[in-house]
Amino acid sequence: MAGHFITFEGGEGAGKSTQIARLKTWLEAQGKTVIVTREPGGSPGAEKIRQLLLSGEAKDLGPRGEAMLFATARADHVDTTIIPALKRGDWVLCDRYADSTRVYQGEAGVDIAYLKLLETAAVAGTYPDLTILIDVPAEIGLSRVEVRSQTDNSGGPDRFEGETMKVHKRRRQMFLDLAEEEAHRFAVIDGSKDLDQVETAIRSAVATAFASELKPDGETASITEASR
Ligand code: TYD
Repeated sequence: MAGHFITFEGGEGAGKSTQIARLKTWLEAQGKTVIVTREPGGSPGAEKIRQLLLSGEAKDLGPRGEAMLFATARADHVDTTIIPALKRGDWVLCDRYADSTRVYQGEAGVDIAYLKLLETAAVAGTYPDLTILIDVPAEIGLSRVEVRSQTDNSGGPDRFEGETMKVHKRRRQMFLDLAEEEAHRFAVIDGSKDLDQVETAIRSAVATAFASELKPDGETASITEASR
């Protein structure tokens, strides 16, 4: 497909949404068409499932049932949002994707072989070109979530944020292990640095991964336009 697919992963409070917005601005300045999307959600059908999952209404189904719902939402998101965008040649920036299921539902005890089956069915061959893992220690991530939930009227932590510190630490390690196993598509970014430093590190990872299509950091699309 003509487009480019970049996913963002990490624990709670890693700063993904801020950095996705910044990367979008940078890519657009280079003349790219960018869509930002998220999981669970990203399509009308999947957003309904998101509500069930994050409110905790689906918790009684157990981790295996929740994994199926994440997969159902993902299948709809892939079919109706991601594939059409990639076919148009857009850059797709996705806040969480299949790696989150491997980590969150894997940590919750769902068998890895079963998760792989669900993943294969849900993604229908649509794998990211690049996955940015924004890594922060669980303590830092959770303290950011606490500040956020006090200021954004969200009514406190959601179903998956409200787990114990031990769980958050295990998820962090699982993301790091995954990045090591599939190093060819991962860039691990230190998310404990300040926002500008994280932004620069992400730009550089993206510029390296798509070197033939992007200018190095610092040059803008307009300079290149002028020199044509
Ligand atoms: P969201 O508010 O989007 O959180 P964040 O800002 O941390 O990305 O909520 C998504 C939550 O759902 C998050 O806690 C991670 C969890 N999740 C899973 O457990 N499995 C999945 O496959 C996905 C996509 C998310």
